[in-house]
Amino acid sequence: MTTVRAAVLRSPGTPPVIEEVELAAPRAGEIRVRIEAAGVCHSDYHYMTGDLRAPLPLVLGHEGAGIVEELGPGASGRIAIGDRVALLWRPRCGVCDACISGNPVLCERGAVQAATGGLPDGTSRLSLPGGGELHHLMGVSCFAEQVVVNENAAVVVPDGVPPEVAAVSACAVITGVGAVFNVVGKAQGQPLLIIGAGGVGLSSVMGAALSGAHPLIVVDVDQRKLDLARELGATHVIDARETDVVAEVLRLTAGRGVPWAIEAIGRPATLRQALDCTAPGGTLVAVGLGAADTEFPVPLNQLVQRQKRVIGSLYGSSNPLIELPRLFALYLAGKLPVDKLLGERMPLAEVAAAYEHLVAGAVGRGILVP
Ligand code: APR
Ligand code: ZN
Ligand code: ZN
Repeated sequence: MTTVRAAVLRSPGTPPVIEEVELAAPRAGEIRVRIEAAGVCHSDYHYMTGDLRAPLPLVLGHEGAGIVEELGPGASGRIAIGDRVALLWRPRCGVCDACISGNPVLCERGAVQAATGGLPDGTSRLSLPGGGELHHLMGVSCFAEQVVVNENAAVVVPDGVPPEVAAVSACAVITGVGAVFNVVGKAQGQPLLIIGAGGVGLSSVMGAALSGAHPLIVVDVDQRKLDLARELGATHVIDARETDVVAEVLRLTAGRGVPWAIEAIGRPATLRQALDCTAPGGTLVAVGLGAADTEFPVPLNQLVQRQKRVIGSLYGSSNPLIELPRLFALYLAGKLPVDKLLGERMPLAEVAAAYEHLVAGAVGRGILVP
């Protein structure tokens, strides 16, 4: 048992508080990691507001990277003590139907992890001093000095990839880039629309720029984020506060609309806007997470008479154990400028302020350092 400082969420609507919590030793197939950097992702905020629900109290944070300090019994050998690793928030048991059929993002252990607030086996390594229950968030809980995670929730980070780049790559980047690489697929010379230029949307911009999408149109309500989108390869940017998005996208595509639109916010209005921007036969890829009960109406005539499709993409629809090393290789080759996504660095103790900044529209991904 180790005592670590961690950001605890006790009930929705209250800010996270830094507390000392107990961390049990890794069990078989698990590892203990000292956190070096953790990303301030919007998804944690959904749990803070109660838009998304998980067993409470819990330790926040799901976008992290660190150094392996301890292996549980019977380790596979894929991860060694001293390795620098990025943490994955979807389990991969390797034996369920989803894992076997090549769709590990949907691993059945994910439901166990979510329902129990535990690791993939449904039990927690976290507890409050004195033995009170404490849950993990998404099997990671990296707003903490140290974590215990499943070995399959770790990917070795090569030399040259800084911890904050590794952390952000393991959530925002793989989600946004993966939506382009694995869902859109062949984007070269094709118009592509991305609505929302946060960490996830800007990652889609990087992936789309690398894939040669053209025109690459990005929409946001914040000029500073649109400037960053341009820097990352957007050919056209639209400020939705002053421009009619659908009319402008149609104008930029000779009246046809885009074959692919990615929505990286998770709101009904922007989902509908993205759908309205697609060409007949086009596809809306929903990437942003909203409140658990969010719905958006899809006009039947767009679906049937214009043969449009609406599909969802979780975690880049990827196999992160394979995809993340490829993204690190692209970063090291200078083709994926993840550094440009990074915003302010703050100590873990300032987690509440970091989320206030996110909500106020901070540009670039905030990074918490224990
Ligand atoms: N039109 C266009 N852009 C908008 C609008 C709007 N009506 N409203 C908000 N935005 C922009 C914000 O200005 C911001 O740049 O959407 C972006 C959202 O970015 P972040 O808050 O940084 O969120 P991010 O971490 O990228 O995640 C996006 O995916 O993983 C989920 O839970 C996550 O819902 C979140 C979404
Ligand atoms: Zn995230
Ligand atoms: Zn599985």
